[in-house]
Amino acid sequence: MNLDRQTALEEAARERIKASHVLDGDAARLAHFYRGWASSYELDVDREGYCGPTVVAELAGAVQTAYLANDRAAIAILDAGCGTGLVGAQLKRLGFQLLDGFDLSEEMAEKARKTRVYRHVKANVDLNGPLSDYSSAIYDITVCCGVFTLGHVRPDALCELARVTRPSGFIIASTRKSYAQAASFENEVRRLQDAGVLVTAQCLSDGKYVAEEGAHYWVLRVPHKASGPAG
Ligand SMILES: C[S@@+](CC[C@H](N)C(=O)[O-])C[C@H]1O[C@@H](n2cnc3c(N)ncnc32)[C@H](O)[C@@H]1O
Repeated sequence: MNLDRQTALEEAARERIKASHVLDGDAARLAHFYRGWASSYELDVDREGYCGPTVVAELAGAVQTAYLANDRAAIAILDAGCGTGLVGAQLKRLGFQLLDGFDLSEEMAEKARKTRVYRHVKANVDLNGPLSDYSSAIYDITVCCGVFTLGHVRPDALCELARVTRPSGFIIASTRKSYAQAASFENEVRRLQDAGVLVTAQCLSDGKYVAEEGAHYWVLRVPHKASGPAG
């Protein structure tokens, strides 16, 4: 491919990523946008050096090795906002096998199903509302990559992620730096910590994420006896 064409494709990928950031968390607009992006999403984010899924999966691997009694093959993981399944592919590479996913977008979820790394992938699940399709305390680890980002999901979605994660289990999430600051993500983490819903086990600050900007990577633990949702 000649240089001009490559530059044009990279520019187009950057524009699509930027366009995804101005959807105001509106479920209908997000679903519409990702319907159109599903077919070229992986190529676009690859062009922009997106490494969030690798970091999140490797953190899950470290958490299992350091803290969990079960083998990787027996660890149940929920991939919240799984998109086309990039995180699932990385988790599988690391030996995890019990993977479920969900996404707002049917087209992104369908791509994830086709990877065949997940047991179940649900579509039309909105993280900005209650995860009513999911029982409490069923996952050892819940991962959420590229979703706490501009124009997508509010920090208060953490509360539902904590609910579906079992006591002493973990939530692993990326937050794009500009999002974390604009949405006061850390304040929400603190609020939930004060309410006994989760505890920060680790935060990798300003890690590599995408060429344009870094992210913080959060490892949050659900306490042994969670106090329930914050008031
Ligand atoms: C940037 S992509 C990240 C996908 C995947 N986790 C990854 O790292 O490649 C964001 C995903 O979040 C989904 N999404 C956006 N808003 C959502 C919401 N409110 N509830 C659930 N998923 C949502 C989009 O459909 C999209 O698949």
